[in-house]
Amino acid sequence: MIDDRKILFSGMQATGNLTIGNYLGALKNWVKLTDEYECYYSVVDMHSITVRQDPTELRKRARKLLTLYIAAGIDPKKSILYYQSHVSAHAELAWILNCFTYMGELNRMTQFKDKSAKHADNINAGLFTYPVLMAADILLYQADVVPVGVDQMQHLELTRDLAQRFNSIYGDVFTIPEPYIGKVGAKIMSLQDPSKKMSKSDENPNASVYLMDDPDTIMRKFKRAVTDSEAVIKYRDEQPGIKNLIDIYSACTGLKPEDVEKEFYGKGYGDFKTAVGETVVSVLKPLQDRMKDLESNKDYIDGIIKDNAERAARTAEKTLRKVKKKIGYPEKIR
Ligand code: TRP
Repeated sequence: MIDDRKILFSGMQATGNLTIGNYLGALKNWVKLTDEYECYYSVVDMHSITVRQDPTELRKRARKLLTLYIAAGIDPKKSILYYQSHVSAHAELAWILNCFTYMGELNRMTQFKDKSAKHADNINAGLFTYPVLMAADILLYQADVVPVGVDQMQHLELTRDLAQRFNSIYGDVFTIPEPYIGKVGAKIMSLQDPSKKMSKSDENPNASVYLMDDPDTIMRKFKRAVTDSEAVIKYRDEQPGIKNLIDIYSACTGLKPEDVEKEFYGKGYGDFKTAVGETVVSVLKPLQDRMKDLESNKDYIDGIIKDNAERAARTAEKTLRKVKKKIGYPEKIR
């Protein structure tokens, strides 16, 4: 069979407890892209260690995330789901690309600035070259498109610059990736402070709805969601709490924000919060059931991990071999 789908790459980190933001904002859309594109979805565990991790937790969360990809509906035969650390080409290409990246370029990365402020006791070189590893991820698979949120756009720009720089020296080695323009997914904000993105690691337990929260917890969190005193359900920036709830409801139901406004015209915040909570419960329940099912099927998941890593490695190795040859690494004697 000839596969003429374009290639798409994306990755997610397995740190912290995943929230509905991860699901509604990214994963749900990833599923939709799998028909049109040949998708590589990685659990980027190599990126995770730029911040100190508990080994047992990291391993557990990485597996959970990969299982979640499948539970969310990504078919591991149609797409490729794998741990970044299982394909050593990522580390190898990242090293090579490091030698084509300027300090000044990395110094400009806003995520590096944010993260080094947050982890002032551990500003390691990996945190600094994080975007180069990300470039390696994307370029190894000759990805045509990369769906990322705005917070990763600067890294994607750098990826394009590196690919162009390399190509201009050595000829056409890398496909220049484009950002995926289309709906990347809703940006879900904190329920307690709607000016902040909903985070996997918020200190306030009511700020984030976790994918594995039970119905009572979900309902309680929505009931406590911060709103305003306008008392109208309108989709506008002046009402960030309500806007966020509308976004969540829209993402769950597929309705447009205007339609949500209409549906709840004249209703109170209490009723609206209950409705949002119930919709989220109805979306998460089947996902949680599938997770439980998959998690009890160890051999099946193990098989996918092995098989998909091999498929990913085959593609990645092809690019890496070309790169090594171009830059003048001596050939291996066989
Ligand atoms: N840095 C991305 C994030 O934190 C994750 C990531 C790693 C990624 N490699 C990637 C995303 C390649 C897209 C493509 O969200």
